[in-house]
Amino acid sequence: MSETRYADARAVAKAIEPSYPVYCLSPSKIEATARNFLNAFPGRVLYAVKCNPHPRVLQALYDAGIRHFDTASLPEIAQISESYSDAHLYFMHPVKSRTVTRTAFDVYSVRDFVIDHGAELDKIVAAAESERVNVFVRLKTPETKALYNLAAKFGASPEVAVDLLKRVQKEGFRPGLSFHVGSQCLVPQAFNEALNLAGYVLSRAGVHIHYLDVGGGFPANYPGQGAAPLEAYFRSIKKGVKKLGLRNDCVLMCEPGRALVADGCSLLVQVLLRKENELYINDGIYGSLSELVLAKMQLPARVIRLEGEVSQTLRAFKVYGPTCDSFDVLPHPFLLPDDVREDDWIEIGQVGAYSNAAATKFNGFSAETLVEVNEVLLPEPMLQAASARG
Ligand SMILES: Cc1ncc(COP(=O)(O)O)c(C=O)c1O
Repeated sequence: MSETRYADARAVAKAIEPSYPVYCLSPSKIEATARNFLNAFPGRVLYAVKCNPHPRVLQALYDAGIRHFDTASLPEIAQISESYSDAHLYFMHPVKSRTVTRTAFDVYSVRDFVIDHGAELDKIVAAAESERVNVFVRLKTPETKALYNLAAKFGASPEVAVDLLKRVQKEGFRPGLSFHVGSQCLVPQAFNEALNLAGYVLSRAGVHIHYLDVGGGFPANYPGQGAAPLEAYFRSIKKGVKKLGLRNDCVLMCEPGRALVADGCSLLVQVLLRKENELYINDGIYGSLSELVLAKMQLPARVIRLEGEVSQTLRAFKVYGPTCDSFDVLPHPFLLPDDVREDDWIEIGQVGAYSNAAATKFNGFSAETLVEVNEVLLPEPMLQAASARG
């Protein structure tokens, strides 16, 4: 990682003329986004490490005041606990081996675990002995309009959740309830509906929870999706929580990933070849851009050319990644200057979430370089809002 802080992706292109893909990270953008989230969410904010575990991203979040981390594996737990001695770690993967559960407990002093099945509770009972432990029961929520449904694989049905909550209490653990409405959730009301279901489960169980974790799913403002502002999500949560009659000391929590980091990072790629309306670039769906396919999203993009102007006329280009696989093509055309050519760079914005975290090294291609910048590319309306604020 370079110590230099560049103005923007253009300055990066000018300084290093990279023939390889480069992440351009704006720590100040991540810090500002995280601070806003921390100020506006009416409870405790955990960062979901899986979304982007790059040390510089974690540092920006830590600098903004994030001290609670949703971790889902021993390597994530080790990374956070070795980096930040005052971090509070939560093991939020509902399925883990006995050895991993015990190691998290014994070696890393993790005391917060999530489960969605009785056999997982048995593992915690075996590992935890008489220590004070918080056990969250993850509830399956109904499918809603989100880019990923995260309730398909995990989550207990209301009936199972009722039984698990009672058992958690009987074992002497402090019970909590959690859910995830789906990543990039486009319906604020989904949180309210999930909380209604939580209310039903809690009244059937007759258990007073110490923790209520409403998960992640808060959207980034990608082009063309019309995501509502975060305040609409927080209002929906407040409304839903009010109806639950929770104990006064019940801690409300959330585990955002994407909403904290998506906007803070751009990807600088280079055009390797142009064939008419087709471009071949040096990163793709096996690398930093897998979400374009999985989540069917579009991202802002602009051409950077060091010598001379680019055309003002735009044209739609089909964009291929660098691997030999024909599947390595971006699902949406990119609207770029019609004279874009070999050796031009393209800055692709809003790639902070699930990019480096999900990238493979297929065919020997991977983005290994990260530099810091002040400004990253954002969609037009956001740029206008930023300049209106001065
Ligand atoms: C348990 C859990 N919490 C939080 C997150 C973060 O979700 P998001 O990035 O949508 O906020 C995820 C994402 O997969 C998750 O599985």
